[in-house]
Amino acid sequence: MSVTASAPGKVNLVLWCGRQDEHGYHPLYTIFEALNLRETVTVSFARPVRDRRTVDGIGVRTVVTVADSTTNERLSDQINALDPERNLAVRAVHLVRSIARTQGKDIPPVDIDVVKRIPIAGGMAGGSADAAAALTAANELFGTGLDADDLEECGRRLGADVPACLAGGISLGLGYGDHMTRLDGTSTPTHHWVLLLAHDGLATPAVFHHFDARGMGREELPHTLLNEHENLARVDGTELAGALDNDLEQIVRTIRPDLEATFHAIERTDALGALLSGSGPTIAVAARDRDHAHSLAATLSREPSVAGTVITSGPSNPAKVENT
Ligand code: C5P
Repeated sequence: MSVTASAPGKVNLVLWCGRQDEHGYHPLYTIFEALNLRETVTVSFARPVRDRRTVDGIGVRTVVTVADSTTNERLSDQINALDPERNLAVRAVHLVRSIARTQGKDIPPVDIDVVKRIPIAGGMAGGSADAAAALTAANELFGTGLDADDLEECGRRLGADVPACLAGGISLGLGYGDHMTRLDGTSTPTHHWVLLLAHDGLATPAVFHHFDARGMGREELPHTLLNEHENLARVDGTELAGALDNDLEQIVRTIRPDLEATFHAIERTDALGALLSGSGPTIAVAARDRDHAHSLAATLSREPSVAGTVITSGPSNPAKVENT
């Protein structure tokens, strides 16, 4: 018996950051767009096979794929060598299993297969999408009956971006960016993106550390959706591009001067706009349509500072069960 679920990566269309609080976190006012770049997690009742890392009766194996669905063996091996206790999919399944046990359910050994498509350490919530998909798959497999609010609460315990990956669509994130309100609907147009990957990743805590050290961070943040952002889920890429805004971009451009060349190259194209994705270093470039995205990707992939390009679109569906 097994269940497969998928969950989207994201770009923050707006990311406004307050000052670090007593918990070491930053209050945020952020608007996420979920991307059609989805992680897939299969949770099975099966004794983990021998080559797998296991923790507490939960086995895990990750396959990292690139745009054309081929496997990146080197990155897959690197992830499979990591401590499974730090794997967000494992922690998600562990959490749902502990809830199942409080409901009196007897859960046999579990095995997890993760297929990654979201670039790693890129500011697109790949690890959080693994957690969102794993929560969704485990809830179905274990019959725990958690509703969307329960899953959001579970997600919040695993990481600040997990609720956004559960919610999908275009959503406002308040609190630490983990209290979600969906903004999109049937009239939301498709937005086309080219993601420009950098040669090296960036760790979110390190970015916030530099942000704090320079005294950056807003004194006040809005507590509800601002009028100026009310239309964001109804406008096309051209109007959307005018609203893109990321408070972390300036500090990341300072600590990662390699990104300057990429931003300058984008200015020489007819891209609708661009911004750093989350805490970076991926840069999201807004395109008019899919053809425009392809031509921008072809031009920008020639830049030495660009390690690779991914063409995608949004908004994408919430985390969901794919098959059982
Ligand atoms: O919640 P998550 O583990 O994904 O966050 C990773 C790191 O990002 C945190 O340890 C913290 O340093 C930083 N963070 C923050 N404020 C937020 C979200 C994340 O400072 N709202």
